[in-house]
Amino acid sequence: MARKIIIDTDPGQDDAVAILLALASPDEIDLLGITAVAGNVPLALTQKNARIVCELARRRDVRVFAGCDAPLARPLVTAEHVHGKTGLDGPQLPDPTMPLADGHAVDFLIETLRREPSGSVTLVPIGPLTNIAAAFRAAPDIIPRVGQVVLMGGAYFEVGNITPAAEFNIYVDPEAADIVFRSGVDLVVMPLDVTHKALTSRSRVAAFRGMGTEVGRMVAEWTDFFERFDKEKYGAEGAPLHDPCTIAWLIRPELFTGRHINVEIELEGRHTTGMTVADWWRVSGRGANALFMGGVDDAGFYALLTERLARL
Ligand code: RIB
Ligand code: CA
Repeated sequence: MARKIIIDTDPGQDDAVAILLALASPDEIDLLGITAVAGNVPLALTQKNARIVCELARRRDVRVFAGCDAPLARPLVTAEHVHGKTGLDGPQLPDPTMPLADGHAVDFLIETLRREPSGSVTLVPIGPLTNIAAAFRAAPDIIPRVGQVVLMGGAYFEVGNITPAAEFNIYVDPEAADIVFRSGVDLVVMPLDVTHKALTSRSRVAAFRGMGTEVGRMVAEWTDFFERFDKEKYGAEGAPLHDPCTIAWLIRPELFTGRHINVEIELEGRHTTGMTVADWWRVSGRGANALFMGGVDDAGFYALLTERLARL
């Protein structure tokens, strides 16, 4: 039985690959809709980019909703330095022709969670958590109805990528992250500790290009563009494909390892705001609120990704 999910996203090249992986896996994933949020680039672009990706997969039927255009309590911080001005820099892409779905993304989240059987819907946030937190705040009754939240965000051993202490998705809207991490939902966290072990390489990008499909070519060009930032900063061999790790976990959780621990969000630190304070060694005495992932079989991850993307 395919798992019903909603992807909340700020495309972003890696978000795009996550959406494609979900669309390529209908036996495991039933994508109820996509909710766009401001993050890597402003909302006007993330909602457009999400539709571009759906059209690339020839899935004009997927409903894409525009959500929050700014964090709950802070000015928006974007990441054009990583993703380019459009958020999907790399290949030239036509504007989408499929329309945006009517209604606000937060209303779609609330209505879907109220309508679907309790516990049957998984939320997959792969950008700042603004939409999710706004829905929880507006309609607390939906929180116990959420099956699971599987998010990309945070870091512990890997420390920060936007500040020395904080990972981008959490840093952009730490108040939203705090609402989600304290909500009591069944939470799976895919941090930089894992995604920085899921790096592209020349051969892996060649495998994308070698598919001989439009999707394979696009993914190769996106990763070629996206990797320059991480290679320069970390001297890494390739780009960390952050967001597809969430979808890969839904399809093949055995590719990943992690621990149930306590994770708090720092809101006041002068240098540490947005840090995920992960109690990996369980020294705080605080109750576990997240399955915090730490390891990945990266060869298995890329084998899955390549096999699935070749289907589109
Ligand atoms: O820190 C990585 C995360 O920030 C990814 O979700 C990437 O798309 C950006 O949103
Ligand atoms: Ca993202």
